[in-house]
This record gives sequence, C-alpha cells and structure tokens, in this order.
Amino acid sequence: MNIVLVGPPGAGKGTQAESIIETYKIPQIATGDMFREAVSQETELGKKAKEFMNAGKLVPDEVTIGIVRERLSKPDCENGFLLDGFPRTIVQAEALEDIMKDLNKDIEAVVNISVPDEIIVRRIVGRRLCKNCNLVYHVEFNPPKQDGVCDKCSKNLIQRADDQEDTAVNRLNVYATETNPVLDFYAKKGVLINIDGNRARSVVWEDIKKALDKYDRN
Ligand code: AP5
Ligand code: MG
Ligand code: ZN
Repeated sequence: MNIVLVGPPGAGKGTQAESIIETYKIPQIATGDMFREAVSQETELGKKAKEFMNAGKLVPDEVTIGIVRERLSKPDCENGFLLDGFPRTIVQAEALEDIMKDLNKDIEAVVNISVPDEIIVRRIVGRRLCKNCNLVYHVEFNPPKQDGVCDKCSKNLIQRADDQEDTAVNRLNVYATETNPVLDFYAKKGVLINIDGNRARSVVWEDIKKALDKYDRN
C-alpha cells in the first residue's frame, strides 16, 4: 500500500506512523526525520535545511523533492511505503505524481489527521523524541516509563529545536497557507480520508486501521 500521512504539526503523524508501519510492514519515509538526521550529521543537506526548520519554515521544494524521489526508488519501497510529512505544497504534490508515474505506482490513500490549533501547541511543547529510534513521547499525554529515557532503546530523549511555542505558531501558519491546498488536491482525486485526531491515540488508530485495511494486499 502506498500511503500519505498529512496533518498540521503535532497532529500525531509520527505517533500513528508507528502503528501503521508495524501493522502493514512498510517503511516510514518522514522528510522531517530525514532532515533532522542530516542536521545532526552536519551534511550538505543538513546545512541547507537547518535555518528553515528552526524558523518553522518549509525547506525549499527542489531540495525536498530530490530526497523523496531518491528514497522512493529504494527496493524496500517496492511493496509499499508511508510518506509522513510529504507532500506539503502543491508543487510537491505534483512532483509526487510524476515520481509515481515513473515508478509505475499510485498513491492509494491520503490520511489527513486534524486537530484544533490550541491543542496542537500543547502537544508540541510537551513532545520528547528518541533520536535513536524516532519514537515519539509526550511529558503529559504519552510519558516514557522512566523520565527522559526511551522505553525501547534506553537512550536519552531530546526536545526538537523547533518545538518552541513561537516556532510552533509559525509552523501552523505555514501549514494553513502552503499545505491546506494539498488537501483539496487529494480530495478532488477521491483518495482523501479525514480522521479526527483530537481523541485518544488508540481511538485514532482504530479509525485509521479501519480505513486502511482495505488497501492491504498481504
Ligand atoms: P516534521 O518533522 O514533519 O514536523 P511537523 O509536520 O511539524 O509535524 P510533527 O512531527 O511536529 O508532528 P506529528 O504530526 O508527527 O506529531 P507527533 O506524532 O510527533 O517537519 C519538521 C520541519 O522539517 C518542517 O517544519 C520543515 O522545516 C521541514 N520539512 C519536513 N517535511 C518537509 C516538506 N515536505 N517540505 C518542506 N519542508 C519540510 O505528536 C506530537 C505530540 O503529541 C507528541 O508528543 C505525541 O506524543 C503527542 N500525541 C500524539 N497523538 C496524541 C493523541 N492522540 N493524544 C494526545 N497526545 C498525542
Ligand atoms: Mg512527525
Ligand atoms: Zn529509542
């Protein structure tokens, strides 16, 4: 299954991706995670992405599209993939159409997780992340068993550089102007699935699973 996850920052894309990739055995391709990895490795890509990310702005389309095209051509995407956080502009959505054509594939479903803005800011400022396995926690809503330590790999949890309240507000504004049109793009194609993300994690997952089971070929 070839799936896209969209939704504002903090909506729960990364959180739900954990269940999706485990259930359907497909790789998660999260452009934000790829950029953060590049920033921490101080690669050329990381140097290009860092300023944009820390300001809550989007990394330029040509940079982002290039890394997604390369990643989707890898053999582990053969039986499906989950895009998390891409596409986020109309230019990216159109580029993804071209990539799919070249690979002889289709985007089958676009899962749109929505959450009201005021809830989102609380989720973002309380988020903690394991840099080693990309698991997502929240100090209040999804705390690790031991404070500040990943349940799975025991590494110390970090806070993302862009998880400050003012940057979160910028990211929400960018989402409204740049990414909302992408939802219309997919609604017109008839592949958009709307999910209310303002409920418990397990309830949100139940809805997503119900919607995605019909695309599972395994
Ligand atoms: P990216 O990493 O994609 O960040 P984002 O879109 O802002 O989304 P987040 O990762 O912040 O939120 P999420 O929806 O994954 O929520 P999560 O599950 O963690 O992008 C970062 C930056 O990279 C961008 O700003 C941009 O600069 C750049 N970038 C990335 N992709 C790009 C692209 N395509 N083009 C250009 N630039 C790009 O959950 C959030 C918190 O809430 C967690 O603490 C979690 O535990 C908690 N939570 C989750 N679900 C629930 C629930 N149901 N109830 C209570 N709490 C919950
Ligand atoms: Mg995420
Ligand atoms: Zn970990």
